[in-house]
Amino acid sequence: MRRKLAAGNWKMNGTPAELAELTALTQTHDTPTVNVLICPPSTLIAQAANTVADHKVAIGGQDCHANTKGAHTGDISADMLAAAGATYVITGHSERRTDHGETDAQIAAKSQAAYDAKLTAVICIGETLGEREDGTTLTVLDTQLAGSIPDTATAANTVIAYEPVWAIGTGKVPTLDQIAEVHAHIRTRLTARFSDGDQFSVLYGGSVKGSNAADIFAVPDVDGALVGGASLKAADFSPIITALENA
Ligand code: 13P
Repeated sequence: MRRKLAAGNWKMNGTPAELAELTALTQTHDTPTVNVLICPPSTLIAQAANTVADHKVAIGGQDCHANTKGAHTGDISADMLAAAGATYVITGHSERRTDHGETDAQIAAKSQAAYDAKLTAVICIGETLGEREDGTTLTVLDTQLAGSIPDTATAANTVIAYEPVWAIGTGKVPTLDQIAEVHAHIRTRLTARFSDGDQFSVLYGGSVKGSNAADIFAVPDVDGALVGGASLKAADFSPIITALENA
């Protein structure tokens, strides 16, 4: 059974006041039948972990350094995230690839650091609009899949998130056929490379909302969502969790 996962990425949003949204989420979804994950900014991870301590909501980081410690001002290691109460970490988000020039090799090293710290890595891949229009989407994804996922990945320590860059924060969503094509392709690549490749969860991300979640979750090989904007408010994220429970 693949894990179904509704994951929220708060990005650079949230101060302690916003933890009230997490409390509200745990009250609405006290015993969710799917995995629920919130990745708040690092400054809130420890408090967020306390907030969800008695509930079935996991907390994750949004990035980690490839090293365990050292002279890397401003960076955070996977060990530190784990010690603060995180059990997941997002690696290779397109905003990290773009804003910080992260390469596939760096993302693989960060993901390996996540495994070493006993965190599950949510490894992100996705094409730009130009690549989509050029017809190179699957080639681009192949390069990212080959380069960003360590050989040590398993269905237990890794979740893949397909996030078309042009769908992030834009309100634009690929057609269900486009999502189906990409997810089937990712599945093929995972099963070719990993003995448990058919068990990896593959999330879709990019402008997921309560209003489109059920349709997206009905697409074969979509095991959940990585949600940005609609994860910030419990009232917006809750219908997405419910849609996944009902999928
Ligand atoms: P939006 O849901 O705001 O489009 O963001 C998607 C995303 O980047 C999640 O990591």
